Amino acid sequence: MKTWMTIWLGVFWMTIGLPLGLAQDAQPGSSGVGDIYYPDLGNGGYDVQHYTLNLMIDVETNFLAGTAKLEAVATQDLSAFNLDFLNLKIATVLVDGQTAPYVHEGRELTIQPLEPLATDQAFEVIVKYYGFPQPTSPESIPFEMGWNHFGTGIYAANEPSGAATWYPVNDHPTDKATYTFNLSVPEGYVAVANGVLEQTIPNGERVTYVWEARDPMASYLSTVHVDRFLLDETRTEDGLTLRNYYPERYLQQGIVAFRRQAEMIAFFETVFGEYPFEVYGAVVVNSSFGFALETQTISMFGREVLFGMGGDAEWIIAHELAHQWFGNYVSPAQWRDIWLNEGFATYAEWLWYEYNYGSEELENLVAEEYENASNPFWVPGRIAEPSRSDLFNAGVYNRGALTLHALRLEVGDAVFFDILPTWLQRYADSVATTADFIALSNELSNRDLTGFFDGWLYEDALPPIEQLGLGSTN
Ligand code: TRP
Ligand code: ZN
Repeated sequence: MKTWMTIWLGVFWMTIGLPLGLAQDAQPGSSGVGDIYYPDLGNGGYDVQHYTLNLMIDVETNFLAGTAKLEAVATQDLSAFNLDFLNLKIATVLVDGQTAPYVHEGRELTIQPLEPLATDQAFEVIVKYYGFPQPTSPESIPFEMGWNHFGTGIYAANEPSGAATWYPVNDHPTDKATYTFNLSVPEGYVAVANGVLEQTIPNGERVTYVWEARDPMASYLSTVHVDRFLLDETRTEDGLTLRNYYPERYLQQGIVAFRRQAEMIAFFETVFGEYPFEVYGAVVVNSSFGFALETQTISMFGREVLFGMGGDAEWIIAHELAHQWFGNYVSPAQWRDIWLNEGFATYAEWLWYEYNYGSEELENLVAEEYENASNPFWVPGRIAEPSRSDLFNAGVYNRGALTLHALRLEVGDAVFFDILPTWLQRYADSVATTADFIALSNELSNRDLTGFFDGWLYEDALPPIEQLGLGSTN
């Protein structure tokens, strides 16, 4: 009897089980993707294709009721898998329409599908949740990150690990996905997110804003804003839509502060290649928090960008725009590679400065920045391996930009301005490492620049000023 059973089971398995791809030795996916600085960010075993985030937001109380649908594909046989998710209460978890058991501890939500998932199998996860989202404070930046409720509204600023404060997510740049946001807010408020506003659906006392972000996006670049905004929508000469959202009383100041954005895009396109996404714009948060963030297709700025920054606002507007190419289109494979974002966006500011004032002024600026880089408070010297707490240290920005300027002098303009667009084409919609950048520079210059990059990226001491074409004049 037993033997017959075994044989029949065997036959069943061979003829039905295997073709169905039933996972024989399914394992739980890992609770991180292997980020050296953030081992618990992201998760192993699957790849998210699309997020649909239905968020019912009560602006005054900051109550959020959400339904997140993730469309994913298993990359291994999975008996269970994790999502990154913080603090909010979970009402239900469904995998392919079936209620699934889960455990929620810290930032890990572990879900056990009723049937194991097989490699390459597409599956759908729905998480219904609610609560009062709170920001978190990572050690890498001196302010609260993620979902923030302030005086008049709400903003989400995730970099590097705040997305999990407002939705369940595979929270690492190595898993980019597209997004749909259905944002229901009380009438009178405007809800903004990444991508294109497809619909505004009035519904009694509430309005639903439907945003589609069709370009693959890292979760740290996703955002939501709710406030009483006014919209200034224009088009660049190339037909790219620019939609800028300003707090309603600051429309005029906003138009003035951001007036050169289209020109910046046109300039950056000549150096980096075509603007990589379907749309661009800015959102100004009605709060002075002194930072800006390159949220994809809609960079966010604190209110101070409108006043008091004098001409300085232009620097930061250029910086966040440049991140759309460097950081967003090509993202860091590891958080440790952050200079690939910040050094490049800072050097883009300098290129914009050179475009406006000429190469002599750029030289003066570089000399000044070299002096800044010698400031002992501007750690770390080793910008390609800063400590986790120094990811966004000014030294990473400024020495990163100096590195690129030194590279430009080392290989010449022709090669340098080939490296930048080639980098973007090669790693488009994906991630890359510092080693990838060094390899590309070697390839296109036909040289071995290992020693050069070691000095700039992996040693504490600042390389000699002569490498910036300075200091050897007398
Ligand atoms: N990437 C931002 C910039 O340099 C800085 C930043 C990092 C940030 N994490 C943040 C800003 C979180 C706001 C919130 O442009
Ligand atoms: Zn930046």
